[in-house]
Amino acid sequence: MEKKPQAMILGTGRAVPERILTNAELEGMVATTDEWIVTRTGIRQRHVAEPGSALSDLAAQAARAALEDAGVDAAEIDLIILGTVTGDMKFPASACLVQEKIGAKNAAAFDLSAACSGFLYGLQVAEGLMATAGYRRVLVIGGEILTSMVNWQDRDTCVLFGDGAGAVVLGPAEDGRGLLQTYIKSDGAFSQLLYNPGCGSVNPPTPENAAAHLHTIRMVGKDVFRNAVNSMTDALQRVLDAASLTVADLDLVIPHQANLRIIEAVAKRFAVPAEKVYVNVERYGNTSAASIPIALDEVRKSGLVGTGGTIGMVTFGAGFTWAAALLRL
Ligand code: ACO
Repeated sequence: MEKKPQAMILGTGRAVPERILTNAELEGMVATTDEWIVTRTGIRQRHVAEPGSALSDLAAQAARAALEDAGVDAAEIDLIILGTVTGDMKFPASACLVQEKIGAKNAAAFDLSAACSGFLYGLQVAEGLMATAGYRRVLVIGGEILTSMVNWQDRDTCVLFGDGAGAVVLGPAEDGRGLLQTYIKSDGAFSQLLYNPGCGSVNPPTPENAAAHLHTIRMVGKDVFRNAVNSMTDALQRVLDAASLTVADLDLVIPHQANLRIIEAVAKRFAVPAEKVYVNVERYGNTSAASIPIALDEVRKSGLVGTGGTIGMVTFGAGFTWAAALLRL
């Protein structure tokens, strides 16, 4: 039976730190070149938060922009879901801190840990709760300060990531608009290919663990790359099949912005022309859970896709986790 959309986008917003770190600056920090970074990843610059910045500040800024865009008062929000793996602290949930900062007094709030898939996971959870628990105004935010867990001496990883937040306000679906399909999946067998070993119960933040950089990102790039292409292809195909649509029915595909080569490889599998694939990785780097909502906000505000247009969103991240969603604006 075909799924009926339960939730639609009422507004979107984004926020990034002011400071921009260029590839040229990275050349002075590790043994890398602008040419290597651009050729292998497509990234030219990334926004970087000042050390000690609060993720909840960035997330709240994106949330306020989304509320304003939607014309919704913070007090109307019933639920806040924040996809992040770089919250202000281990607890309380940064979603609660966002709740306080924006004045969403009537909401429940929690964080969702699915790395780069956090936002699309959040959309599915939000829609499910709207259908079953009666929530009518939900904020779904993806936000990261990934540079807080980057080892700036490790050229394999430090060139890839950036900071930012994106947010959407969801309301009940109308007129065939909203989430046509969502799909989420994970496979913990691959947990050791992309992970942050420190700061948890296994490797608490002792001086020895800090000296061994256990609080920074570990990644086996080539395996992540291959799995990302295969899983993103599979996820997008699944939501298209479930909605009885093809890629030709989409006005735009917004893939997770991790690496231009991953994006191009997925686009090639679907034979999607380049102008139908949204790319901003050159400006932001990989902002993990923030990447799709930042792109979605740019797409809506630039008018690239208008009301009634159909967007396919697809992502992949640590876990491994992966997800896709079809959205009619
Ligand atoms: N500058 C210069 N040289 C570098 C750098 C750098 N920043 N980083 C690595 N190299 C070197 C390597 O040491 C290696 O040297 P060697 O041949 O002498 O050993 C050489 O470049 C080639 O390295 P590879 O790992 O083979 O490079 P590859 O083409 O696989 O690209 C990359 C590496 C960009 C990390 C790629 O594997 C990738 O994008 N993987 C996906 C990772 C990703 O996006 N992760 C983000 C989180 S998950 C997600 O969001 C999807």
